[in-house]
Amino acid sequence: MERVPLVVANWKMELSHKAAVDAAVTLKRRLTGDRRSAQVVVCPSFPSLADVAAVLKSSEIALGAQNVHWEERGAWTGEVSVLALKPFVRWCIVGHSERRENFGEQDETVVKKMLLLLKHNIVAVVCIGETADELAAGRAADKVSRQARQVFAALALAQLRQIVIAYEPIWAIGIGSVAQPAEAAEMMLLIRKLAVEQFGQEGAELLRTIYGGSVTAGTVEQFVAEPGIDGVLVGGSSVVPLQLVDIIKRVQHVYSGQ
Ligand code: PGA
Repeated sequence: MERVPLVVANWKMELSHKAAVDAAVTLKRRLTGDRRSAQVVVCPSFPSLADVAAVLKSSEIALGAQNVHWEERGAWTGEVSVLALKPFVRWCIVGHSERRENFGEQDETVVKKMLLLLKHNIVAVVCIGETADELAAGRAADKVSRQARQVFAALALAQLRQIVIAYEPIWAIGIGSVAQPAEAAEMMLLIRKLAVEQFGQEGAELLRTIYGGSVTAGTVEQFVAEPGIDGVLVGGSSVVPLQLVDIIKRVQHVYSGQ
């Protein structure tokens, strides 16, 4: 299968509404007409989705949400339903470590969210990864395997097209401490092997895995040059539009050279 690299920009809660819309305008202007392929997905805060969607209409840049509730509707004050997202997004991040750590999200809930997104034809970017303590205790591979197995167990082979696994070592998120690309690639190879265990060889071909954790324009090429790393999930370095453009161009550059 031809690999189309993926760049997912997680804007977290960093941008005002105006800044998010302005960023989308800049991205559209800078990336329109760029024929080298890379799938770009930007994920603003919920209230900015409609206006950013309007800006990105008729562009190749896709829109994603940063979270969703696991139920379609109900008495869930302050939560956001997939039905409210659906008019605007084709992608959604689930299970980000900031949600797991600060809001107590569990693997089971993350799987529920993923399945609901798939039901509504929204691609789920499922984040998994180990903490610093788990790494230090030599339990990183166990943790990541358990999370990946749980995700795969809930899916049929064809549904692998509708998910992306984002491997994000939690200790590398937001602090500039970057994992070694070769080590990240090794963990991502393990994830792919688990997909083969569950689905056979076809699983390995369909699965997309991206790396996240302090990726910058200076490091992105090293990550995507690794076999089996299909792209990146970028937080801090994605909120300045020209930095994000730089990252995207570097990803395209690596792929066009392969
Ligand atoms: P970071 O965030 O690039 O700022 O480390 C990545 C993420 O949290 O998805």
